Amino acid sequence: MHFNIITLFPEFFDGPLNCGLLQRARELGLISFSFLNPRDQTDDARRTVDDRPYGGGPGMVMMPKPLSLTLQSLGFAPHSEEGPGPLILLTAAGRPLTQQKAGRLALDSENPCLTLICGRYEGIDARIEELFPAETVSIGDFVLNGGEAAALCLIETVARLRPGFMGHAESGVEESFSSGLLEYPQYTRPEIFEGLAVPKTLLCGDHKRISVWRRQASLCATLEKRPELLPAALRESVDSEFILSLPETKLGRNLNCALVHYPVLDREENSSASSLTNLDIHDIARSSCSYGLGAFYVLSPLADQRELLRDILRYWTKGRGARSNPDRAKALALVREGKDIAEARADLEKVSGHKALLVATSARNSGASLPGINFAEIAEELRKRPVLLLFGTGHGLAPEALELCDASAPPLRPVNGYNHLSVRAAAAIMFDRILNDWR
Ligand code: ADE
Repeated sequence: MHFNIITLFPEFFDGPLNCGLLQRARELGLISFSFLNPRDQTDDARRTVDDRPYGGGPGMVMMPKPLSLTLQSLGFAPHSEEGPGPLILLTAAGRPLTQQKAGRLALDSENPCLTLICGRYEGIDARIEELFPAETVSIGDFVLNGGEAAALCLIETVARLRPGFMGHAESGVEESFSSGLLEYPQYTRPEIFEGLAVPKTLLCGDHKRISVWRRQASLCATLEKRPELLPAALRESVDSEFILSLPETKLGRNLNCALVHYPVLDREENSSASSLTNLDIHDIARSSCSYGLGAFYVLSPLADQRELLRDILRYWTKGRGARSNPDRAKALALVREGKDIAEARADLEKVSGHKALLVATSARNSGASLPGINFAEIAEELRKRPVLLLFGTGHGLAPEALELCDASAPPLRPVNGYNHLSVRAAAAIMFDRILNDWR
C-alpha cells in the first residue's frame, strides 16, 4: 500500500513513520510513502503557498495553484475523477474517521494508493475541492494546527489492517471497534499490584468462561463510555439480558413522572383543573415502561376524575383489556393514582426511602424562577436519588405547582417558532434525553 502525503511539513512524519510496527511494515515492503511539498510547485523567490482570505478575517489560506500542480504531478486531473487512487483531505470540517472507513480504505483494492492532503493555516482554497473531488476526513471535533497529525492517525489505523502488518492476525480482530464494542480490560503480571488483584476468572484457565467474562467486560465498558455503539454491536439475546441486569441500565427505575391535572394553566393563563385524557395515560405509561421508569403518577384532586382513572386501570390491568393485551397491562401497572404533587412526592419517598428531586417541565421558560437542571444533570441525580418529572396538562404547570419543585428542566424546542408537542410526546422525548442509553 502506498501513501502520497501532500504536506508543507514533511519532517513532521520523520519520527512516527520510522519506529515500531510502521517501520517494520516499511522494511517488509507492506507500506511505502512519498512526500510532496506544495512549496516545490511555486515559482516566486519566497516560495509562497498562502495568502490572506478574500472577505477579510484572521489567518492565511493555502493558495490553490501550488496544491493543484502537486496533485497533477501525481496524476490527478482537474474536473475529473482521474487519479492514482482515493484522494483524502484531512480537515476538522470532514467526516469522522471510523474503523469502518479505515477498513474500507485498507482493503479497497489489492495494492491501494491513498493520497492525503494535509491542510494548514485557516484551510485551503475551496476551489481545490471543486476541481479535485476528495473525501474529507476529520479525526475528531477539535482543531489541530494542520492535517499532519490527523494524517498520521489515518495512516496508522489503515496500515495496521493490511494483510501481514500485525504479528498475530487475531489482535486486529479482538480490539476495540472491530466487534463494535470497546475493548475489555487487559492485565499482565504481577497477579497483585499495589493491593489490586487481577480478576479471578482470568486466572481460571477455562477459555469459555474467560471469553464470556471478556464479552461482558466489553459490554460494560461500551455502556459506560460509548452507549451509542451498543445497539449495532449486540450479538445475541445473552448480551441484552446481561445489559439489562446491570445497575446502570436500572437507572430508569429512579426516574418517575407525574401527569399533573391541577394546578395547571388554562387558555387565559388562570390556574385551573383539567380533565384526564385516556390517550395520555396509555401513552405515557407505555413510554415509562419502555424506558424502565419506577412509577407514573396521575394526579387530580377531583374525585370523579380519579374514579375514571380507576375504571381505566381496572379494565386494562385486571379486566378484559388485560386479557386481550397483556403488554398494555404491564405498562398501566406503573400508574399510581394521587390527589396532588405533595401526595406523589410522599409516596415516592415512602417507596424509595429517599427524598425525591422534583423537576418541573415546561414548553416555555416558565420555570425560570427555579434553578435550571439539564438532562445530563438529571441523569447524574438518578445515581443518588429518585427524580420526579412533573408534566403539566392544559397550558402547563401553574405557578403554585412550580413553587413545589426543586428545579426546572429545559424546554425541548426553545428556538423553534412552533412548540406545541403533546404532553405524551414531550414525556417520551425527555425520558430518552435523560436516560440516553441507546442513542
Ligand atoms: N485539521 C485540523 N484539525 C483537524 C481534525 N480534527 N481532523 C483532521 N484534520 C484536521
